[in-house]
Amino acid sequence: MRRGRRADAAAAAAIVPRTAIEVHDVAHFYGDRPVLTDVSLTLTERRIGVIGANGSGKSTFARLLNGLVIPAEGSVLVDGLDTRTQGREVRRRVGFVFQDPDAQIVHPTVEEDMAFGPHNQGVAAEETARRVEEMLVRYGLAGHRDHPAHLLSGGQKQLLAIAGVLVMRPQRIVFDEPTTLLDLANTRRVSRVIDALEQDAVVVTHHLDLLDGFDRVLVFEDGRVVADGSPGETVPWYVARMG
Ligand SMILES: Nc1ncnc2c1ncn2[C@@H]1O[C@H](COP(=O)(O)OP(=O)(O)O)[C@@H](O)[C@H]1O
Ligand SMILES: [Mg+2]
Repeated sequence: MRRGRRADAAAAAAIVPRTAIEVHDVAHFYGDRPVLTDVSLTLTERRIGVIGANGSGKSTFARLLNGLVIPAEGSVLVDGLDTRTQGREVRRRVGFVFQDPDAQIVHPTVEEDMAFGPHNQGVAAEETARRVEEMLVRYGLAGHRDHPAHLLSGGQKQLLAIAGVLVMRPQRIVFDEPTTLLDLANTRRVSRVIDALEQDAVVVTHHLDLLDGFDRVLVFEDGRVVADGSPGETVPWYVARMG
């Protein structure tokens, strides 16, 4: 029997929990102003970094990858699913962690906040509780389960935001400057957390140390990808260019 592309993609993802994101001829604008121009990429690597000056289009690009932004021109496909028409399924596969965890933490207590995503996806209560427990322990938040989430430290809040995405079991996670608001110790902690993830990750960052060991780094400038290669090739080039 011939199955649809969607079913095929779902079956493939179940066997190989990796994502392939295809960005086809994307352009995006805010008003008349171009913010992304002529972006075409296929993202399959486990660890992909995104760097570039403020305003170069990194966040807009990051948001394309799970359909938070729909491109004005061109298309973005996640395992063949179009973000324009299949956003909900795309967001199941690709999670998003914001720079500011306060943007992501919406529920009063740590435990409730973590349970929100899976509950919203229709995951059974027992399974949700099991996943939440696993995350509370993994990120040292078990002692804080009943605490108001807004009273956590900055580092704990970012861990909660990451855990709140992981409990939904995405295959790839996009991080938009996850350490920009953190002190050095928490930056290192979050960096180790990202390194240890079994999921694929795309990490937008100004902390170039985070990119050690990454498979690929994209450099953005004025909404275009101006370099694309290993960290060893791209990072020194970028640093020299920033002069
Ligand atoms: N929602 C928006 N409305 C209008 N302009 C925006 C919006 N979001 C971003 N911009 C502008 O688009 C450009 C690229 O922004 P962004 O993708 O956030 O870049 P980066 O993350 O690299 O700083 C910036 O000049 C920014 O001011
Ligand atoms: Mg940004």
